[in-house]
Amino acid sequence: MRRLLPGSGGDVMELDGPGLVEAYRAPDGRWLRVNFVGSLDGVVAVEGRSGPLGGPGDLRVFRLLRALADVVLVGWGTASSEGYRPVAPDSPVGRLRAELGRPAELPVAVVSRRASLAPGDLLGGAPTILITSEAADESRLRPLEDAGVTVLVCGEDDVDLPRALDLLAEHGLERITCEGGPQLLRAALAAGVVDELDLTIAPALVGAGTRLVGDAALPEVVCPRLTQVLEEDGVLFTRYTLSAPPA
Ligand SMILES: NC(=O)c1ccc[n+]([C@@H]2O[C@H](COP(=O)([O-])OP(=O)(O)OC[C@H]3O[C@@H](n4cnc5c(N)ncnc54)[C@H](OP(=O)(O)O)[C@@H]3O)[C@@H](O)[C@H]2O)c1
Repeated sequence: MRRLLPGSGGDVMELDGPGLVEAYRAPDGRWLRVNFVGSLDGVVAVEGRSGPLGGPGDLRVFRLLRALADVVLVGWGTASSEGYRPVAPDSPVGRLRAELGRPAELPVAVVSRRASLAPGDLLGGAPTILITSEAADESRLRPLEDAGVTVLVCGEDDVDLPRALDLLAEHGLERITCEGGPQLLRAALAAGVVDELDLTIAPALVGAGTRLVGDAALPEVVCPRLTQVLEEDGVLFTRYTLSAPPA
């Protein structure tokens, strides 16, 4: 993988493993980064999965962003359609975390207004966190708690994302990698809680399909600042910042 931006006096910089870690280091303190892979025409799922758009470089970045995080934040639609499961210490991400001196445990926090997660699901036990709202059927919550899921009720009709991030921080989970999907990203952008967007751009045109922030308009146009571009095999790995680093 090579770095195109920021440039180094006209030279293109090749990045090794440690170089890639440095390229994706987040500022200290609370920071929410969103990671997506999309096509040139902004589509993020082919036949309901992101896999066809990804490649080896995207997988490396995906794993690294998990390894650098305190928690993975994901919407129920993505967790269910992509078959999310707990991150095992004996997995590529777990081993990378050990190499980087990060705690072995990486909880997945599932956002679901209706508490769609169930104890029998792949994520239906510890250390999963369910972020839900008062709109959820209360009878769904107790069995999840009994199965070891940490349930955070934030908001009345919908999940109050700023409140959810406060509660995660109270649990010591400040560095967040959000893996979508589009509905969750749209809500997070509308709530102004996204600090960084890491978008892998695959050299592919797909046509109709699920788009990065879905089909509904955002309350206002969001204009992230481009801070980094890496490239490998024609795939662009962009890093955009939406906020100033924490003081
Ligand atoms: N290319 C990529 O990098 C990438 C990344 C992620 C996802 N995807 C694709 O995107 C598709 C899924 O899209 P999606 O928009 O349905 O995904 P999503 O945002 O993960 O899931 C939507 C569901 O999650 C819950 N949810 C999301 N945001 C919420 C909020 N702010 N408050 C409360 N609940 C919230 C709701 O669950 P309840 O209905 O249970 O309340 C909602 O129905 C899949 O095909 C997936 O492959 C692609």
